[in-house]
Amino acid sequence: MKTPEFLQLHQIDDALLAREAAQGLKAARARVAPKFFYDALGSRLFDAITELPEYYPTRTEAAIFTAHGAAIADAALAATGPAPTLVDLGAGNCAKAARLFPLLAPRRYVAVDISIDYLRQALAALQREHPATSLVGVGLDFSSRLELPAALADGPALLFYPGSSIGNFAPDEALRLLRQARAAAAGGALLIGVDLVKPASVLEPAYDDALGVTAAFNLNLLRHLNRLLQADFVLRDWRHVAFFDAAESRIEMHLEARRTLTVTWPDSERVFAAGERIHTENSAKWRPEAFDALLRTAGFTSVRRWTDAQGWFAVCLAAG
Ligand code: AVJ
Repeated sequence: MKTPEFLQLHQIDDALLAREAAQGLKAARARVAPKFFYDALGSRLFDAITELPEYYPTRTEAAIFTAHGAAIADAALAATGPAPTLVDLGAGNCAKAARLFPLLAPRRYVAVDISIDYLRQALAALQREHPATSLVGVGLDFSSRLELPAALADGPALLFYPGSSIGNFAPDEALRLLRQARAAAAGGALLIGVDLVKPASVLEPAYDDALGVTAAFNLNLLRHLNRLLQADFVLRDWRHVAFFDAAESRIEMHLEARRTLTVTWPDSERVFAAGERIHTENSAKWRPEAFDALLRTAGFTSVRRWTDAQGWFAVCLAAG
């Protein structure tokens, strides 16, 4: 049996992250990037979100793979050749990619996440199931730059970016990431999940659920900042806000001050007026043709798309 290999490509620097968060808090329109959601509790809260009846993306994407997995895998293998390297962007527990193993029979699986610590358990378990597959865990914040180590770039690869995480990026940043993905695929393909435009009556409850799990997920960011920045956010002073902006075609999430208050951290502070907000996330919703066009602008010459019956979510295979 093989054993997983691990590479942490950048230093996770809490001081740097703290500076980035502080800078966002002090901006005229306060903002904190979505990556600050995902401390240990935040990751668990996100997993809980995926089980909510209102949060359709995870189960809709899974249903697309259940219905069309064989066709998707055939098309992917036609682009990469047999036994490809499968590169999983934001692998987490590796569960989505593991479901593709029987269809793709990858020679090598490269699980990329911001920290290899998240990948150790998942890859150890996966290795027991697939003793002959090379498993590599790579610690990399690919949101700032996606570039794989040269040792892993030996022929066409299948890049896998499910869950519509691309939605966190503004269109120009999404384009930059897709260009880097195309380069990393080295003549192979990109298999990507995209959330589609639909009525606000479906979108908004998915980001403001009755049980309050998404509110907890959003508010947990303040706990994370309290720890990271030694700040003194009082969670009860803040309210979860989520709405669909049709003109921007995105869900926005914010935290809104319930009263005028001051937040302090070492060497600095910020006054928030009652009703003032911290912008914590954008989640873009694409029209299918617009996303195809974005993939082509990124350089892909062939795009195939599978959707659910309601046209709520798409899985796209981009090659060329
Ligand atoms: C992980 C970025 C795909 O935008 O739907 C879920 C994150 N935020 N509920 C999304 C999220 C609030 C999620 N992504």
